[in-house]
Order: sequence, then C-alpha cells, then structure tokens
Amino acid sequence: MLIQARQKIFSFYMENIRLEPTQDGSFTLFSEQFQEIYHSRRGAVQESQHVFIQEGLEKASSFFAKKINLLEIGWGTGLNFVLTYQYLLRNPHVQVHYVALEPIPVPVDLVGHLPYFSQIGIKKELFLHFHHLDWNKKYDILPNFSFEKLNITLDEFYESPPAPKGGVNTKEETKFREENFDLIYFDAFAPSKQPEMWEINTLQQLYNLTNDFGFLVTYCAKGQLKRDLKTLGFTVESPNGAMGKREMTRARKNNNYELGIKN
Ligand SMILES: C[S@@+](CC[C@H](N)C(=O)[O-])C[C@H]1O[C@@H](n2cnc3c(N)ncnc32)[C@H](O)[C@@H]1O
Repeated sequence: MLIQARQKIFSFYMENIRLEPTQDGSFTLFSEQFQEIYHSRRGAVQESQHVFIQEGLEKASSFFAKKINLLEIGWGTGLNFVLTYQYLLRNPHVQVHYVALEPIPVPVDLVGHLPYFSQIGIKKELFLHFHHLDWNKKYDILPNFSFEKLNITLDEFYESPPAPKGGVNTKEETKFREENFDLIYFDAFAPSKQPEMWEINTLQQLYNLTNDFGFLVTYCAKGQLKRDLKTLGFTVESPNGAMGKREMTRARKNNNYELGIKN
C-alpha cells in the first residue's frame, strides 16, 4: 500500500516536471503544476551564475568577514547550490552555511538528464550525490561549506521554531525564525506563475529572516516587487540582469552601506 502510494506520488512528479531546452543549448525543467520553467530560456547556467553568484555571493563575501548564513528559496535542480559549491572551492577563505528550502523535490532521475555537468565542469556523480543527500539533515560539504536542504515551504520554515540556544528558547526565539540570514537567493517561480511567493506577506517574512546588513538577490525586476521591498524597509538596487536583461533586483536591509551598484 505504502509502496503504491509512493509510486503514485513519484509518477505525479515525473508527469508534472519534464525536461525543457533553453537558448544556450542546455536543458532546464518545466513544471506542469506551475506552468513554468525552472530557469531562464536564455541560459540556465549563465543566469544563475550572474544573479546569485556574481551579484549575490561575491558581494556578500567581499562584505562579510564572518561565515555567511545563506538561505535559498527553491532548491529545485540544485544549480545555484552547485555553483556556490564551485565558488567556495575556488575561494577557501569564504565560509558559508547554506539552508535550501524545497517543498517539491525534483526526481533525481530527471536531474540526471540535465547537462550542467559538462557545462560547469562538475562530475555527474557528485551532482547526483548532492541530490541523494537526506532531507532535513546537516552536512559538512567542504571545510568552508555546510549545507542542509529542508523539504518544506517558506511559510513552514518561517513559522517553525528555531533550535533553542543552550537548550532554552528565549521569548523572541519561540515563534519565528528571524534575522538569521546574511544572503537570500530568492529563486521562486515567476510572479505571474506563483504570485503568492511575491506578495508582501511573503516578502515580509524574507525581510524578517534577513540579518541587519544582509540582503537578498532575485532575477525578478518587476516594479511592484521593488516598491513592496522599499515599503518593507529594504534599500533596493537594480544591477544589470543576466544575458542582456536590463535589470535584476538586490535588496539590502541596512542602507548605511553600499555594494557599489547602480540604484
Ligand atoms: C525557479 S525554481 C528554483 C530553481 C533552483 N534554484 C535551481 O537552482 O534549480 C523554483 C522552486 O521553488 C520551489 N517552491 C515552490 N513553492 C515554494 C515554497 N512555498 N517555498 C519554497 N520553495 C518553493 C519549486 O518547487 C521550485 O523548485
């Protein structure tokens, strides 16, 4: 019975997530459920590298002298994660703890068909190994890189009480996770496909999760998003987007510093 139920869920995901070509010749995944691709059609690797690594992690590592607490909204195919891994291999002085949220795990069978391995020079076995890691468990991936992927939504994560410090929750710690993250990769499906992820209540959660001086990056550059982020108290920057896109968005929690980007 249990096996049958599992198979049913598995085939649901297999039918609901399929391979889709992008313009740089690589493949991404398409979600039937959200009617959306996982990465830009112009090129999955280039967009992730630009938005999350170049405009996110590189800026954070030049700004923070300490270990960077990083939260990813939507682990998906693990592309952002693997690009982060490669960055940390090249930059052993940068320390990162990476928490990835993913309520709808991509079947590993499909991940095996993605061409990232040759494009970014990572062994397929290693990429698949990351996908086989247990959910909800912390791993030391490199001396400077620890990782946990959590099989939950942002709402669930936000509302789950953090582990008590020293065994005792302080009053503020009992309800929500707050001010934990220096950098957020906000990689939800597009506002037209999953609007609730971009509503102000969700953005408020992201604001609350961000440390003072922390910031989030996303590929989305919609005016409404920028206005909402400003309303919440973020300082909004609009670096150039990936591959000829005019803009992307970076939102900083404290406006008393500059990351050196055009506003
Ligand atoms: C654009 S894809 C992310 C691509 C991914 N970052 C990568 O590198 O392949 C969006 C992801 O958000 C996930 N997602 C959907 N609802 C979510 C929620 N409520 N909280 C967190 N993630 C969610 C989807 O399952 C999907 O994997």
